[in-house]
Order: sequence, then structure tokens, then C-alpha cells
Amino acid sequence: MAIIASNSAPGATQLEVRLRQVRLEADGIVSYELVAAGGEALPAFSAGAHIDLHIPGGMVRSYSLVNDPAETHRYMVAVHRVPDGRGGSAWMHGVPRVGDDLRISAPKNDFPLAEDASLSILFAGGIGITPLLAMARRLSTLGRPWRLHYSARSPQHAAFLDELRVLTQHGGELDLRFNSMGVPRLDLARLVKDAPADAHLYCCGPRSMIDDFLAASASRPQATVHYERFAAGTDAATAGGFDVVLQHSGLRLHVLPGKTILDTLLDNDISVQYSCSSGICGTCRTGVIEGGPDHRDDYLTDQEKRENRSIMICCSGSRSKTLVLDL
Ligand code: FES
Repeated sequence: MAIIASNSAPGATQLEVRLRQVRLEADGIVSYELVAAGGEALPAFSAGAHIDLHIPGGMVRSYSLVNDPAETHRYMVAVHRVPDGRGGSAWMHGVPRVGDDLRISAPKNDFPLAEDASLSILFAGGIGITPLLAMARRLSTLGRPWRLHYSARSPQHAAFLDELRVLTQHGGELDLRFNSMGVPRLDLARLVKDAPADAHLYCCGPRSMIDDFLAASASRPQATVHYERFAAGTDAATAGGFDVVLQHSGLRLHVLPGKTILDTLLDNDISVQYSCSSGICGTCRTGVIEGGPDHRDDYLTDQEKRENRSIMICCSGSRSKTLVLDL
């Protein structure tokens, strides 16, 4: 496979892969099978890992790997079409064809699985099933006990049901919640409270689900509480009314109300790397030379936010009149 020198995340490797298969998995959800163009093995990955997919025009989108982590002949991702998204899902659903070559990052894992847990309890909402499916596969391979609570609008909106049912034949438990069928919603507070103290808990889903999960898990040992957001926990700063100065060119731009710093840069044809546009992935991390950021991301640690040396320009704003960026 072609290995390309640089990546959206500094230091990471980029790969050229070929789209081998596209399949409708559920209403609005399509899966993509990616293989090395030359048929060689792909870099190994672990359950919970994701790849960054580079979309022409500078967009980068992160997608969890859903296939068995033991596989090195392919990567599988699934994409939910978001009608009001920022274009990544619309491009994925409309443009690539089987046989096309695409550019991705090597897998990275910000949501690793504790493989030796006495019990793993997985909470999935909608497309949040993707990293958790890879975890269920891995736990089944290891023969470790797992339980999956999977919530979706209807069976037609729930991807990978057949594969999950097969996995349960090897020891896992599956609790399906389809909102349209009158099944009571997941009682996260109760399920988390009833979980054995040494169980590891994982959650991936919409913002409200993650927030409920974190509230329910607040008193548990935090090393056993794991989550991955695909929507930010805090709204982006769009009040505007401040200037950004690009240190290297000296260019000064005014951020208007309704715009983020990233919007302002892109509107002025300034090319920067970004991916999730939601303060989650870290791709748009930018150095701060001067000024006080208004941090809105879920990526930087509290300590990093206090130090004010970096800002996620896709969602964070400024508390000072001027922000000087290392751009
Ligand atoms: S683009 Fe992902 S954190 Fe900004």
C-alpha cells in the first residue's frame, strides 16, 4: 500500500486504500470495506480504534473501525448520513464508488478496551454502535463476558443486528431498544447503578446519552468508565466580536457573530486541517501565542485549558479582544 508522509494528526501515517465494497446496513447507514490497493496486509488495530478519512477539498472525517480487530486484510467503517452535517457524510454517501482509491490515516485508538475486565457493559445509541461492535467481536474472541444495550429509532435504523445476534451465540448478551416500538428507553442511571463494581462500562452515542452516562457513572472508579463522543458536549463559541491574528503572516481577521474561528479562516481561503468540527478529534489544534481562548472542546485536558497554549479552532472562541494564533 502507498504510505504518504504526513497526516492531519501530526506524526501519523497516511495510507492509500481501495474501496472494495459498499453496503446498506440500515436506513441512512452505509458501510465501506477498504483494502490495500496492492492486496498487502494493513496495519493492525485494536477494538475502539478509528481512522481519519481525507475527503477532497481538505475535509477530514474520523470513522470507527467496525470489523474484527484480528483482521488485517481490510478496514470496515460505517457512515450515518447527517442531513444538516458539514458535508462529510453527504460526500461519503454520494461520491465514492467501488474501485476508487481513498486516503486514510493509520488507525488510532482513543477509546481502548480493557480486555481483562470481569464484565464489559456496552451502551450504544444509533451509529454509536460502530466502535462497540468491534469491542463485542474482540470480547467474544477472548471469551470474556459482555452485555450490549443498543438503542435505535427502529429495527430498520439499527445497523449490524444480524452480526450482533450471531455474536451473542458465543456468550454475549444483547438488549435492543427501539424507540418507535414503545420499548422503554434505556434507564442508564439504573443500569449503571446495578453494574458490578469491577465491570468496565463503555458508551458511544448522541450527546444526551453520553451526558446521562457520565452523570450516572460519576461515583464509579473513573478508570472503569469509557466513552466516545461524536458530538461535542458544549456548544461551539459563535458569538464572534473578536479578532484573530495569524502570527506568521500578520494577517488580522475579524470573527463575526455566527461564525467560529475555523469558519472565518475557511471563508478567507486559509487552509487549515480539521476533521470533526466538534471539538472532539484534536485535528484542528492550534498554538496560541497571545490572548485568552474560550475553550469549548472535549479534547484538551483541564490542565491544558488552564495553560491556554492551544485552542481547538473549530469550536472555541476568545475571551480577549484579540487572539494571536501560531498560524
Ligand atoms: S476539528 Fe476536531 S477538534 Fe476541531
